[in-house]
Amino acid sequence: MDIENRISSRLRSLGGYVFHEIAEAKKRAEALGKDIIDLGGGNPDLPPHPKIVEALKKAADVPENHRHPVYQGIAELREAVSAWMKRRFDLDIDPESDVWILTGSKEGLSLVNWAFIDPGDRALVPDPAYPPFRRGVMLAGGEPMLMPLLMENRWLPDFEPIKKEDLSNAKLLFLNYPNNPTGALADREFLQKAVDFAKENELVICQDMAYSEITFDNTRSESILTVDGAKENCLEFFSFSKTYGMTGWRLGFVAGNSKLIDALRQVEVSVHSGVFHVLQKAACVALSLEEKDIDETRRTYQGRRDVLVKGLRDLEWEVKNPKGSIFVWAKIPYGLDSKKTANMLIEKCGIVTTPGVGLGPSGEGYLRFSLIVDKGRLKQAVDRMKLLEL
Ligand SMILES: Cc1ncc(COP(=O)(O)O)c(C=O)c1O
Repeated sequence: MDIENRISSRLRSLGGYVFHEIAEAKKRAEALGKDIIDLGGGNPDLPPHPKIVEALKKAADVPENHRHPVYQGIAELREAVSAWMKRRFDLDIDPESDVWILTGSKEGLSLVNWAFIDPGDRALVPDPAYPPFRRGVMLAGGEPMLMPLLMENRWLPDFEPIKKEDLSNAKLLFLNYPNNPTGALADREFLQKAVDFAKENELVICQDMAYSEITFDNTRSESILTVDGAKENCLEFFSFSKTYGMTGWRLGFVAGNSKLIDALRQVEVSVHSGVFHVLQKAACVALSLEEKDIDETRRTYQGRRDVLVKGLRDLEWEVKNPKGSIFVWAKIPYGLDSKKTANMLIEKCGIVTTPGVGLGPSGEGYLRFSLIVDKGRLKQAVDRMKLLEL
């Protein structure tokens, strides 16, 4: 059988996945015995707080927690989410109808397309962006419409040039602040503009808050659900991965309009069977952590950011100070190509980064560095780059 011939056109349209390509390049360099400084993925090195791990162990000792999970998420965790949203954003979120527990926000951000996108429908997607936005739309048979994120617009999409006629079959609008890869935050004025634009064009907003708590210089992220009208057309996706160092657990949640949650529910129950209760019990403890515990995480990433940004600027790379996320988005000097530069960094310096073009065409000319190693290792990376002749 010619298997190639059996592959769906949706799958064929996807193209390579940038992080898979990076992993392959890293493997090749490791096979040559190179010491690799991996700043490629978004995999935090900071472990979960000991209280969370303790709760995990305790929950694992309860036989009941090993049974089939409930679909929506245990009431205790949904109530913890609601209490956290109240404390953090002064929002009233009904734990019964406005929340769904996910196996990671990636899953929700991808499956949401199956709830709203018919073949040929469009979804507005930032460019550059976390690749699953674009790929999730395509897997559902939709067409991503890219919204360039430019430095001159503070990495916020500009809705003005988008023509009404191009939106006739557009259904979703993806946003992500604090932003991967640019590190930008969205202010209330922008969020309000986005909600109004979505309302005018009958779009559902899917705002990705994976980095909601990782912000620097005493700034805080804003929930889109707090702006006027947002409860009518928004879903906001949160993750336990980055804030709490629980990436491997696969745990997140989505909050927002109950009818939108109900549409996502119908997809979720068709393809998933809920999240292991042991993880959910421990996640309740994560949401009850004090701000000072999260402050330590913020301080760690901020310290790393400062080392890397200074180092790159000393090498005459143009870098804006990211306000949040765990990334530094740096313009490559002399207009060099991002894939070539990323490959050169692996081969000559043993440094893994993400080529900007892998995150979208507007990312060409940039590299993304992840702040997932300690300051000493970041200094070492910069020292190695000094030897590179661009
Ligand atoms: C912008 C963004 N959204 C979502 C995710 C996925 O997070 P999770 O581990 O909750 O699936 C990531 C992880 O890299 C991300 O960078």
